[in-house]
Amino acid sequence: MEAKREMSYDSFTSVMALNQKCEENIPERYILPPMQRPDPSLVDHISSGLPIIDLLMLKHPAHKSQLIDEVHAACKKLGFFQVINHGIPTSVMKDALDSAEEFFNLPNDEKMCFASADVHEPVRYGTSVNHGVDRVFYWRDFIKHYANPLSEWTHLWPSNPPSYKEKMGSYAKATHVLHKKLMEVVLESLGLNTNYLHDDIEEGSQVMAVNYYPSCPKPDLALGMPPHTDYGTLTILNQSDQGLEIMDQDNKWHSVPFIQGSLIIQLGDQLEVMSNGRYKSTPHRAVVSLQRKRLSIASLHSLPLEKKVGPAPQLVDQQHPIAYKEGSFGGFLDYISVKSLSQGKYIDTLKNP
Ligand code: OGA
Ligand code: NI
Repeated sequence: MEAKREMSYDSFTSVMALNQKCEENIPERYILPPMQRPDPSLVDHISSGLPIIDLLMLKHPAHKSQLIDEVHAACKKLGFFQVINHGIPTSVMKDALDSAEEFFNLPNDEKMCFASADVHEPVRYGTSVNHGVDRVFYWRDFIKHYANPLSEWTHLWPSNPPSYKEKMGSYAKATHVLHKKLMEVVLESLGLNTNYLHDDIEEGSQVMAVNYYPSCPKPDLALGMPPHTDYGTLTILNQSDQGLEIMDQDNKWHSVPFIQGSLIIQLGDQLEVMSNGRYKSTPHRAVVSLQRKRLSIASLHSLPLEKKVGPAPQLVDQQHPIAYKEGSFGGFLDYISVKSLSQGKYIDTLKNP
């Protein structure tokens, strides 16, 4: 069984290669059951209510408490916000996306050197979500690599294109710094000390999920990524175009607008656990387009791989009994190595009955 899975993985076809055939239809494997298709008529495309947070307010003591209130409201309502004036230069964001595109444009053989079915691999090129276990495939190719501390990992990253390590590295370093800044704000918005788990956040794991979604001849039948929540504390997403959709608490989908220079912040499962359920991780998915390819870089931050984390003791009391058992990023990886996203979520295994 195991050997068979590995074999089929080794011979996978990237979506990019499928797309280059310029066919009018998509292979059967990518067609979602009708109920799971991304019906555009059920999606809010106005998205004017989605929060945009100006981090310049952090620099002005008079505005700091307003910022904390805005972050609290955004986390409570959606687990999602966009940030502007976040301190990462647009050129650094663009260089990272450009180097990602150059990587995906390499000949197939060069990319396949990084292919692996093992979700524990620190560098991994693949397609769909977890192609070894997915029943339906998703219209996405990706390379994922660990990034913190950078010096420990970049020797494993692609050496081609030649500027990849430098450009993706600068962006990774900048997002690590931004994550720490944002965590302080989010912790404060929960009424916790901004130093809470400070060293674990500094030494935390960072996985860059670099995604390529080619244009798709049947965007109504397929998805780039199925609905899921991210496993970590916060995800910082840099994108070349619109395509992310988030679900609100009434199960309504909202299309996230593309705002030049902004970054998308999403709460992950680890923060839901730490907050003892005060904040929830955001379900999200990626749709694909008939006309346009899309690239995104999701910087997935979490506490260190084997660090077990449960609800913050300060957030547990009689009105808020402890709602989750401890879990870790490593526990999540063990879980998804055998289960597809549709078969259940790791965080549900941590919920107290
Ligand atoms: C992810 C993800 C969404 C996107 O990589 O976890 O949700 O818009 N990506 O690429
Ligand atoms: Ni995600």
